[in-house]
Amino acid sequence: MRIAVIHGPNLRLLGTREPEVYGTDTLDDVNRRLTEAAAGLGVEIETFQSNHEGEILDFIEKAAPRVRGFLINPGAFTHTSIALLDAFLGVSRPFVEVHLSNLARREAFRHHSYLSGAAVGVVYGFGVQSYLLGLQGLVARLGGR
Ligand code: DQA
Repeated sequence: MRIAVIHGPNLRLLGTREPEVYGTDTLDDVNRRLTEAAAGLGVEIETFQSNHEGEILDFIEKAAPRVRGFLINPGAFTHTSIALLDAFLGVSRPFVEVHLSNLARREAFRHHSYLSGAAVGVVYGFGVQSYLLGLQGLVARLGGR
């Protein structure tokens, strides 16, 4: 079973970006921990990061035929992108939405997600652990370990 992990805008800056909000792990650290967790769950992952909405849409379309589902931290596109929602609806693949920070404790504009209503589930507030819990939930939903 193969799963694609998508990191949205500004997540390449992890480690130095507002560490009091997002922690000190880098994106490489997150991907390494995901790869280890995936091995334990008996699944393969591929990771992708982009700051560009269109590139993420293209990636979803291209990756969909080879993956069973998506794990995504859409970054700020969470709160703005109907196109991202439509991309997931269009490829008919389950996805889990994750965020490092606890969106409910932050600014009001971060309380709404265009994606959540179509996601299998949403995990936020646990830092890197959000990704790992999200992966676990997605794999379970897909019938894996
Ligand atoms: C984020 C939360 C978003 O509101 C923000 O724009 C991000 C990161 C998170 O992981 O907590 O870029 O998705």
